[in-house]
Amino acid sequence: MEHSDVLSQSVRIGPLTSPNRIVMPPLVIWKADETGMVTEDHLAHYQRSAGPGLIIAEATAVAPEGRLAATQLGAWSDDHLPGLRRLADAISRTGALPGIQLHHAGGSARLESTCGLPPRVPSIVERSPDRAIAMTDGDVEQTITAFARATRRALEAGFRVIELHGAHGYLISQFLSPDTNLRTDRWGGSPEARHRFLVEVLRSARHEISGAGLSDSAALTVRLGAAASPPRSLSLDEGCAAAVAAENAGADFLDVSHAGGIDDELASRIASRAETANHVSATLSLAAIAKAHVSVPVVGVGGIRSPADAADAVTGGVADLVAVGRGILADPAWARKALGLDHAPIELCRDCKPRCFWFKEAAKCPARRRLAAIG
Ligand SMILES: Cc1cc2nc3c(=O)[nH]c(=O)nc-3n(C[C@H](O)[C@H](O)[C@H](O)COP(=O)(O)O)c2cc1C
Repeated sequence: MEHSDVLSQSVRIGPLTSPNRIVMPPLVIWKADETGMVTEDHLAHYQRSAGPGLIIAEATAVAPEGRLAATQLGAWSDDHLPGLRRLADAISRTGALPGIQLHHAGGSARLESTCGLPPRVPSIVERSPDRAIAMTDGDVEQTITAFARATRRALEAGFRVIELHGAHGYLISQFLSPDTNLRTDRWGGSPEARHRFLVEVLRSARHEISGAGLSDSAALTVRLGAAASPPRSLSLDEGCAAAVAAENAGADFLDVSHAGGIDDELASRIASRAETANHVSATLSLAAIAKAHVSVPVVGVGGIRSPADAADAVTGGVADLVAVGRGILADPAWARKALGLDHAPIELCRDCKPRCFWFKEAAKCPARRRLAAIG
């Protein structure tokens, strides 16, 4: 079967059907103002990336003290609703299911990013930011409510996939990891207690979906960090247990990533557990490992450059859907080209080291520069 035929297959995710297997994962572009409002830059960015069956808008802060940058999108106030409506509409008009990632940076926030508000953390640890506050039981409850309210706003704005950011070392990840969660109350201690924050956030988001009468037309997911190396360790077994807990708490599908970094030692453990082809990245292999533990569909991500990589991940059973991040940033027509709807060659992501140029300055991405040069 051609790669485009594999990737063009529709797939059920909860009550929804994605028209194809390609996902544009959340990719922050830092184009909001200090009040977190959607701008024209956001609309243009998502419109030009048309093609994926599911587009998940970038990490959007559920609370101002949980921001990762002062220019991060926000959903912590009803004032954000008009902009979020335009964003959901822009994504829907590409033909994609409109998704949004709800995010709280926890101890990864800095005073500059929160405009001076003290960051909140599960526990004070060596790497906690300046003026960080260890959350009281009341703060934890309030933050769960902040996720629920942001879910309500996202649904009201027209988003139909709600993704909770439970990866990459941010707040939900911080609750999951024994390195960053030293609590001895009901939110910490045993693995089950460390899952509780994720589980309660999922339940409260599920409650908003059913309360809005959208159980048959909106899906809930979590970007789950399924493993990480120190200083935010999460073992593979604990990551898989968290995947099961997420499914049980109402996730319609899982978007699997890492929980804050994978060193060589963890990468080799992942490789021996995953039994994936050896060109598959450690992060993408995590999807295959998690998939063996759950019955809901799984999105895999990490290092997919070509349509062949993406189709192989689907046919090889690594993941049900594949997310392509830097590939789409490098060539916004990536999905249309992979699906055979645009016959121009793909300008492949060059996997720039030590860090993606797009992340630092989009105009310096070598693939984007080449696309601009050939018009
Ligand atoms: C510029 C940039 C912004 C990102 N923003 C987010 C984000 O908002 N939320 C998130 O979960 N991951 C974010 N990521 C991670 C990507 O979604 C993706 O998981 C990662 O880039 C690996 O996939 P890739 O190899 O296809 O790029 C970002 C990555 C990049 C390069």
